[in-house]
Amino acid sequence: MSNILENRTWRYATKKFDSTKRVSDEDLELLLEATRLSASSYGLQPYHIFVITDQETKEKLRPVSWGQSQITDASHIIVFANVTDFGEELMDGYLENVSSTRNIPTEGLQGYGDFMKSKLLELPLETKSIWASKQVYIAFSNMMQAAAELKIDTCPMEGFQAAAYNQILGLEEKDLNASVVLAVGYRSEEDETQHYAKVRKSKEELFTYI
Ligand SMILES: Cc1cc2nc3c(=O)[nH]c(=O)nc-3n(C[C@H](O)[C@H](O)[C@H](O)COP(=O)(O)O)c2cc1C
Repeated sequence: MSNILENRTWRYATKKFDSTKRVSDEDLELLLEATRLSASSYGLQPYHIFVITDQETKEKLRPVSWGQSQITDASHIIVFANVTDFGEELMDGYLENVSSTRNIPTEGLQGYGDFMKSKLLELPLETKSIWASKQVYIAFSNMMQAAAELKIDTCPMEGFQAAAYNQILGLEEKDLNASVVLAVGYRSEEDETQHYAKVRKSKEELFTYI
């Protein structure tokens, strides 16, 4: 089997982590860098990512995560937060980054900037947040797949109260919203679900060739 399929078959949504095992700083760096390199619409990366190892914070998050043990037992809890509202500063910051990274004057980027602004700034507040949240999921998925390549286990998690996360992590005042969580660490040998067969739609159900 190719590595692509082997890694995707190996990974599963880990229910029980081995709380004694920690992801090394070196591997964490790789995961974060893979995530940083994620594609995003217009390149704007409208999100911020919190890396949580503090046990006290994990203990606070668990009851507002349907009591799921992954939150306290996994080595790292990664909270992907989308921006909820944004103005020109999001695009201007990006254009400045393009300008300095590629060493080109910002004036040459004005057309692209105006285009992005015309598409995004007039969106209703809720649509802005949904759009940003979609970008989050690309980064989130990238981290999950990168972890599988390193044989690091993860559990993707939507089973939590976003409002409580926002309050505990102080996200609201930063115009951020907890969108999705990735628990990262190593599976417990006792986690029976690692032996379950994958349940997926058949190719016929899933794909249409035109
Ligand atoms: C966005 C998202 C949210 C999820 N939320 C949870 C969760 O809160 N708790 C959990 O145990 N599993 C959660 N899952 C795991 C899914 O149930 C699991 O990925 C799916 O059943 C397929 O199984 P597999 O990932 O083990 O192959 C979530 C998965 C995704 C992609």
